[in-house]
Parts: sequence; C-alpha cells; structure tokens
Amino acid sequence: MKPAHTSPVIASLPGSKSDELLKAWEKYEAQTTTWQAPVVWQRASGVRVWDVDGREYLDWTSGVLVANVGHCHPRLVAVVQEAAAQLMNSYDFPTPSRIELARRMIDITPAHLDRCFFLTTGSEVVEAALRVAKRFTRGYETVSFFGGFHGRTYGALSAGGLQSPKKHYGPIAAGAIHVPFPYPYRSEMQGEEAIDWCLKLADQQIQASSTGSLAAVIVEPYLGAAGFIFPPEGFLKRVEQWAAEKGMLFILDEVQSSFGRTGRMFAMEWEDLRPQLACLAKGMGSGIPASCLLGQSDVMNAVGKGEMSSTCGGNPVSCAAALAVLDIIEEEDLVGNSYRMGERMKARLFEIQEASPYLGDVRGKGLVIGCEIVHDKKPKNRHRTWHGGLS
Ligand SMILES: Cc1ncc(COP(=O)(O)O)c(C=O)c1O
Repeated sequence: MKPAHTSPVIASLPGSKSDELLKAWEKYEAQTTTWQAPVVWQRASGVRVWDVDGREYLDWTSGVLVANVGHCHPRLVAVVQEAAAQLMNSYDFPTPSRIELARRMIDITPAHLDRCFFLTTGSEVVEAALRVAKRFTRGYETVSFFGGFHGRTYGALSAGGLQSPKKHYGPIAAGAIHVPFPYPYRSEMQGEEAIDWCLKLADQQIQASSTGSLAAVIVEPYLGAAGFIFPPEGFLKRVEQWAAEKGMLFILDEVQSSFGRTGRMFAMEWEDLRPQLACLAKGMGSGIPASCLLGQSDVMNAVGKGEMSSTCGGNPVSCAAALAVLDIIEEEDLVGNSYRMGERMKARLFEIQEASPYLGDVRGKGLVIGCEIVHDKKPKNRHRTWHGGLS
C-alpha cells in the first residue's frame, strides 16, 4: 500500500460506482440525514475509509465521533463476531458481559457514580437522564444552554439550544428553560467575568420562567454540534455549584466527549466534576451501538422496577464490544495518545492561524479541535452574541 502522504487529492466526486448507488439511495431512502460528501463507504480501517470506487480517504469525522479505537479494530471485530455467534439479544435478562461491563463502568468513573443503566443511542440516554431527574426531584423543569445539542428525540431536542432540531416541530416540552453558555472567541468578556455574566443571566431566566418545579441542569462539557466551543476554565464547576444551590441535579452529557476524546477518559476529569447523572454513548462501542447512563444510586433508585428498559439496551454484542473497547483504550494508551496528538495538532494549527487571515480561532482539548474560519479576524467584527445566530 502507498504511504498516506502520496495519496492523490481527489478532485471530482462522486466516482462512477458511488454515483450509481447514490441515485438508488436517493430514490429509496428518505433524504433526511445531514449533508455529506457524495461518497458511498465500502470499508474502513483505523483512520482510513475506502469507497465503492476504491478511493481512499482520511476520516476526519471519526465516523461522527464514534470510532474511538479506530474503524474496525481487529480485536473489536473478533470480539463482536464471537459474541454475535453466541447470543444477540437477551432483552432485560442479565448476561455475563452485561454484568462485567456494569462493573467496569463503575470502576473507571468517579466513586460517587455507582449505578449504571445500558441503552443504545445518545438521545436515548439523555431521555433516560431527564426521566430519572424528574422522578428523583419530582420537578419537571430542565435548564440547558444556548448552542447545546442533546439529540433529536422529544425531551433531548427540547433541552437543545440550537434551533434546527426543533424548527417546524411545534411546541417543545413544557419546562425547558435555556440560558447562555460562554463563547470566548465571540465574546468581549473572558474568564470569570464571562462565567459571572452567564450565571447572572441564568438566575434572571429562572426568576422569569420557572414555575418553581426545577429538576435538573443538563450541559455538554463543550458545545459539540455548535462548533466545539469550550467554555472558560471553571465554568462547568460553577454550573455544578449553581445547580446544587437551586436544588437541581447536575447532568453531564458526555455522549460525545467520553472514552478518551478530550485527552482524558471522561471530560468530567478535567475539572473534577461531580455530576449526579452522566450520559455516555458514541465511542463506547466504537461503531457498535451502545450507551450508558451513570448515576448515584440514591438518584437512580428513584426509578422503580419496570419503569425503564429498552429492547436492545445492554444487548450481549454491544456489551462485549464495549468491554473490548475499554481494553483496547487501556492497552494502547489511547487516552494519552489523544492528549499528545491533540497538543501536536494544535501547535501546528496555531502556526497556520498566525499566517492565515481567515483562521480566526483554534480551540480544543485532546482530539476535539474546533477551527473557526472567518471573513475578518479583527475583533470588532467577531463580537456577536449567540443571538446573532447559530442554528
Ligand atoms: C452531546 C450529544 N448528546 C447527544 C447526542 C445524540 O446522540 P445520538 O445521535 O446517538 O442519539 C449527540 C449526538 O451527536 C451529542 O453530540
């Protein structure tokens, strides 16, 4: 195989086989998914993807922040094949892999998170977190952030702070309250000042909107879908404290940021956060659907027997895959690698930023790196608020 750096740049897409298949796809599948380059994927390995025309690509999306151990890691493939040959579904019956995965998840997360519950997708785990919070607090109001993305199911999209998942779908869930999230690159305020300002507005929003039935705050460690926007250091800890002062649970949506992506196993480790509930998905199965709600037992126990379950949640193949992913991450030091590669990449991107009139901002942790491309780097042209419009 040719070394990567000699791969030709593909000037025209799609290739002929992709073109043919894309026509059939457009005819038969509802065209509701996000826009993608016209490429029909055939296979993948590590960071590389090949299309049906045999063209090779570097996958900068990591299968949309999923392939944390790389695409089709041979060990993961072998484990999945073996697990699938043995047992594919057991619904709510426990299996050895499910029990072992629960033990491992509790082991690798902060000590106060001592119960977990398995589901299949990120949206599903966010719904479960909101459900548990409502059951525990007996409140129904949720506070979440401008620019946040928590999924496309009803509760999750109601908590989201971007317009596009909700637009055209009528009223969002009652009690969904949205407050500002700091956006350092686009704000004149920085650090503590920005944090104070956001929390002051959050106070005012609660004063104006809450009926006195607050249940939880849900927040991403960084705004993923809004453009990898990282808050100033200390913001998330302050949100955690603010939630406690208001009698709300603190839910951390680590659907995207977990399993090494930020250069720590979990993003909550960066600020020693203590969420009562944490949502994990995406990288958990590194391509095999798997998600997990982690919580404190006093909170999780608020939900009674038979109140929460999911057809494929905790299925034996997903659990075996998630266990293999944990082993691979540990044995190949992928968390350390994410940190080191991220630092290296940022250093190079900062050089490019210096030289480029259009690369306005480079930000991130580990291998979550956001680059903001702008028309004009002059500060006076970039200080716009949220209200200027992410959608
Ligand atoms: C932070 C966050 N939460 C929730 C979700 C929803 O996950 P899913 O698409 O698996 O339902 C996503 C997906 O991008 C996400 O990034």
